[in-house]
Amino acid sequence: MMHLITWLMGNSYHAAGWRHQLAWERTAMRLDVLIEIAKIAEEAKLDALFVADGNGVRNMDKVGLFEANTPSARPTVYDPVTLMAAISQHTKHIGLVGTASTTYESPWVVARRFASLDHLSNGRASWNVVTGSNPGDSENFGLAHHPDRDSRYARAEEFVSACKALWNSWDEDAFVERKDTGQYLNARKVRVPDYKGRHLSVKGPLNVSRSPQGRPVLFHAGQSEGGRRLAARHADCIFEAAASVEAAREFYADLKRRRVEIGGEPDHLRIIVSVAVYLGRTESEAVELYSELNSLISPDLGVDFLAKAVSEDLTGYPVDGPMPDLSAPVVGGNSIRGQLDAIAKAEQLTVRQMYERVVPTMGNTALIGTATQIADVMEEWYTTGACDGFVLGASISPFTLLLIRDELVPELQRRGLFRRHYTGSTLRENLGLPPVDNSPFAT
Ligand SMILES: Cc1cc2nc3c(=O)[nH]c(=O)nc-3n(C[C@H](O)[C@H](O)[C@H](O)COP(=O)(O)O)c2cc1C
Repeated sequence: MMHLITWLMGNSYHAAGWRHQLAWERTAMRLDVLIEIAKIAEEAKLDALFVADGNGVRNMDKVGLFEANTPSARPTVYDPVTLMAAISQHTKHIGLVGTASTTYESPWVVARRFASLDHLSNGRASWNVVTGSNPGDSENFGLAHHPDRDSRYARAEEFVSACKALWNSWDEDAFVERKDTGQYLNARKVRVPDYKGRHLSVKGPLNVSRSPQGRPVLFHAGQSEGGRRLAARHADCIFEAAASVEAAREFYADLKRRRVEIGGEPDHLRIIVSVAVYLGRTESEAVELYSELNSLISPDLGVDFLAKAVSEDLTGYPVDGPMPDLSAPVVGGNSIRGQLDAIAKAEQLTVRQMYERVVPTMGNTALIGTATQIADVMEEWYTTGACDGFVLGASISPFTLLLIRDELVPELQRRGLFRRHYTGSTLRENLGLPPVDNSPFAT
């Protein structure tokens, strides 16, 4: 079965979607809005809700972008696990994927938070492991610099291993709670992990009993060599941003191969591709909504967004004039810069045309059309080795999510591609993943 996830956020996935008349009026710190999203997604039988996160407010250097807000700027958001704990009390089946960084947090705290969430949700917790993509976050943790990628992934490897050891502290039947004998727990059913690495150490045991899933489901969102290696070794699922089906197939084959090379089962590493969804009840409605959304991208937002994507200062370039030459290399971000430079040159695009192309996809693929048309594309990706599922970005919230529930999901169900009912009682079971190994030295 295909797996489907959606973002748990009130402001729509399209950067200007929150301005659309079909979007919620106010969403900042509105738990009621987030609960409503969770309920719609659960009615649609989606596998999970996903909360992305960083450890700082982004984009303050670009006022146009900052004031317009984009889904990744996160100027005011709940801590993901705190939020998911609240959501868990309003839902029964849907998985809860929250993000936490291995660069700035401690394994003890992360392991404890997610094990607690797993208990509170009866086995629906998942941790999206990231090393952090925003250099500015370092200043919130007393560090002068964001560590380089290799150092971040070296620490991430140890961090996840340490968390796995902590989650394995207690046997399932450790807490006997015998009123007759006075024995609350069985001391032979606990292990002290005493994890010691080069970057971190943690003794344990964790002060949370073994959680319903054995440990939370592990997602990872890195794409680089280090990210792929980490996912192949540790993750149950990996998020992917793919600009085309060909790129997705390459990524898919590479990750499955890596899992096999370390002696793992390729099917137990699920690849979930991120897409932006522009769904309409008719094709013309979808196309109209898409262009309405694009007309809501103010030039300030569009130019700043594009400037960030291509690492180029675009002030001084008329918005309806040609894109500047971007062939000179810059530090970081060269692959997207090069791709967009080639497109701009081939199609002679203006700055406005370029940002209207870039903003709606957010670096992913945009699916525009009716439920049937979008299901066609999803079916092709899913059945031709490009992914095991999708994280659906609802371009207008709640409008698009309601159409996902009422039209797209039923269409996928008719094709036998998606579940009609939740079959498992935990996220791990609904994802079709094997139980966690409970042996003393399992990692
Ligand atoms: C669907 C998706 C979700 C992501 N969510 C987050 C997030 O919540 N926090 C974060 O710091 N990075 C997030 N990222 C970015 C990745 O963690 C990562 O930095 C990026 O994919 C580049 O890969 P690399 O770190 O291996 O270079 C996400 C990426 C994707 C594709």
